[in-house]
Parts: sequence; C-alpha cells; structure tokens
Amino acid sequence: MLKGKHIILGITGSIAAYKAAYIIRALVKKEAEVQVVITPAGKELITPLTLSTLSSHPVISEFFSNRDGTWNSHVDLGLWADAMLIAPATASTIGKMANGIADNMLVTTYLSCKAPVFVAPAMDLDMFAHPTTQQNLDRLRSFGNHVIEPAEGELASHLVGKGRMEEPDRIVEILEGFFSQKQELKGKKILITAGPTYERIDPVRFIGNYSSGKMGFALAEACAQRGADVALVSGPVSLQAKHPAIHRISVESAEEMYQATVSRFPGMDAAILCAAVADYRPEVLEKEKIKRESTGEMTLHLLPNKDIAATLGEMKEGKQRLVGFALETHDGLHHAMDKLRRKNLDFIVLNSLEDKGAGFQYDTNKVTLLDKEGRVQTFPLKRKEEVASDIIDKLSALLKKG
Ligand code: PMT
Repeated sequence: MLKGKHIILGITGSIAAYKAAYIIRALVKKEAEVQVVITPAGKELITPLTLSTLSSHPVISEFFSNRDGTWNSHVDLGLWADAMLIAPATASTIGKMANGIADNMLVTTYLSCKAPVFVAPAMDLDMFAHPTTQQNLDRLRSFGNHVIEPAEGELASHLVGKGRMEEPDRIVEILEGFFSQKQELKGKKILITAGPTYERIDPVRFIGNYSSGKMGFALAEACAQRGADVALVSGPVSLQAKHPAIHRISVESAEEMYQATVSRFPGMDAAILCAAVADYRPEVLEKEKIKRESTGEMTLHLLPNKDIAATLGEMKEGKQRLVGFALETHDGLHHAMDKLRRKNLDFIVLNSLEDKGAGFQYDTNKVTLLDKEGRVQTFPLKRKEEVASDIIDKLSALLKKG
C-alpha cells in the first residue's frame, strides 16, 4: 500500500529522533519515497548524514542553502507529498503547528501541506498531560490531522508514564492502514445535514440550539475519505470542511435547510440527517429590534417547521438510503424507533443527553444504531470521528447490498 507513496518525514528535537531512522528504513523497505525535513533541534539528536543515507534524499532543514543559495520550496514539498508524518513531534512543534508559528522549514511545510498529516508525539509524561499540549493536540485533530497516541512506558527521564513515541513499526502500520482504507463509496453521492438552525425573532435575536456541527462534519469527512462526493448542508457553525470532495452549502433557518436539502436529494445515493433542526419558528419576523421598554411582557407565537427527514422519507426511491438521528433525554430506544418508522428511515442513530460526553458540542459521542429490521447495535463512548466511521460502515454495507 505504501509503494510509490511520497512521504514527508518531519523530525523534531526529541530523544526519540533516533527512532526516525527505523521509520525511514521501514518505509523505504515498503517502497515509499521519503523526504526528511528536520528542525534545528532535531539535528542535535540525529545526524542528517544518517537520514539522507537511509532515505537517499538530501535532508531539508533550512529555507535556503548558505552554500549555493538553493531555495527549498516548502510549497512544492507540500504538493509532492501523499502524507506528512511528524515523528517524533515535540510539545514545542505541536504548539507551533496548532498556532501557525512558521519559524522553521518543518512548520512552513506543514502549513503548505494539502496531504493528510500524522503526528506522533514524544515527550515527558507531565508535558504530555499538560492542558496546553492537550489543547494543541485537540486543535490539530480539529484540523483533520491524525494524532498517533504515544505509548505508556519508561521515558528518557526514567519516569514511567504516557509520552513515549509509538514504535516505528506500529507508526508505519498506521500509515499503511490509512492508504489501504477502502474507497468503497467511490462514485456515491451523499447528502449530509449538520449544525443547528437559527429562527429569527428580530434583527438581533433568534431561536437556536447548542449543536456545534462536530458530528455532522465528522460524518462528511468520513464519507469523503472513503471516496464519496459529499453535499454538506450546514447551519451556522464555526467549523470548516477540509476534504476537497465536500461541497458545503451554508444555511441559517430550517426553511433554508429544507430547500437546500429537498432540492438536492433526487440525485443522491444517501442522506444522513444529523442537523439539530429547530422544530418551531416565530410566526412574525420583526423588522426592528423589539424594545423591552415599549413591549413589556410578550408572547411569541410559533409555527412548526417542515420536517426534512420525513419529507425525504416520502421522496425516497429505489436504492436511496436515509439515515436519521434521534437526540433524546429519556426513553431513547422507544422514541428513536418511533422516529425511524415515522420518517421512513433505513436506520437511526440514537444519542442521549443522559450519557456523559454524548450529544451537543463534545468531541465524543455514545450512540446506538437501530435499523428497520429491528437490529440494535450499541457502541461505547468514542471520538466523533470514530463514531462517524461506525455509522458509515453500516451505511456502506447497506449501499453495497443495493
Ligand atoms: O453538532 P454537535 O454539537 O456535534 O451535536 C451533534 C447532535 C447532538 C446535534 C447530533 O448527534 C444529533 O443528535 N442530531 C439530531 C438532533 C435532533 O434534532 O434530533 P431530533 O430527535 O429532534 O430529530 C430527529 C431527526 O429528524 C434528526 O435526524 C433531525 O435531523 C431530523 N429533523 C428534525 C426536525 C426537522 N424539522 N427536520 C429534520 O430533518
């Protein structure tokens, strides 16, 4: 799977830098082409001569060569790569990557790189556990980078804990796994709704909810990574879709989401309805800001919004598949099953606010999948990216069956 792949290996100033030699050897053995970019601190721990000999490429560290003025283009390098792996990644480099501090060749290359990025942290256990490091790693994850969790064990400081860079063979296995990822959704078109909707009351106020869009965006990335073309209809969220196969359509209200979704559904193979759509909107949209002084006590008269899932359930034809969500606070299984039938879904993803770490805004979710054949699959609390993968596994199997 790695044969012919172009891999940038970023090496930073950790004692684990010596393991980079083993990574190069393993990658080259699998016929990948490796280009090393090393930070100045990295060069203190392993020599460029070792790395260039193993990779058969000159090692890049500076923006240009003092000897002959040759310019090293981080942009060209970023475009050349099929993947960038930073191993070992120190707390300092992780911080720079998370905050765009491009003061060396490695971080500028990272910022220019369009290919998937893998980060293998290596540091002392307390540095790894520090909230700054954890927040920076979360930030990298939110950019779509893959963090290869460090292992527990004896560290360079002789302390024992989590912070030891994952073993080279395992890192290479992870890269291999990534490239062998099934592209089983190639040629499929998938429509996804995400985020909240805002229902305007007046120019400064709205009715909304806490949805961050994380679950819906994770689903969009998972589908795109497996080869699908994704139309992502999103309510107001601050997230960015990263994969080039995701076409984002931004909407605000439930009515706008309804129009954007219903008009696109006929050309789709499947739709996943993850948005937290407001069930009601104010009957009247005030043109000017409502003033408490002149209005006093007030009553909002609300009208029900159209149900997007139920509409698509009626429109669904032939091999089209429809996946809904149910966000519940009690009697989850009962309510989810009811929605599954009422909206003519193929399966429904139940998440409950009764479960800690599940639902709105968390990076994690805990879901149960219920299908129309009555099968029930319960999953433990996982990161939303992993939850998305579980959901897409089930959808893929359904689409394959036809
Ligand atoms: O965005 P995050 O912060 O990551 O949070 C994720 C989430 C909690 C929003 C997500 O996991 C989730 O549960 N989304 C559905 C929330 C919801 O509105 O559930 P519901 O039980 O009210 O709706 C049932 C289904 O009908 C959903 O698929 C919903 O998208 C759909 N619906 C609801 C109302 C409506 N007018 N149109 C719809 O299509």
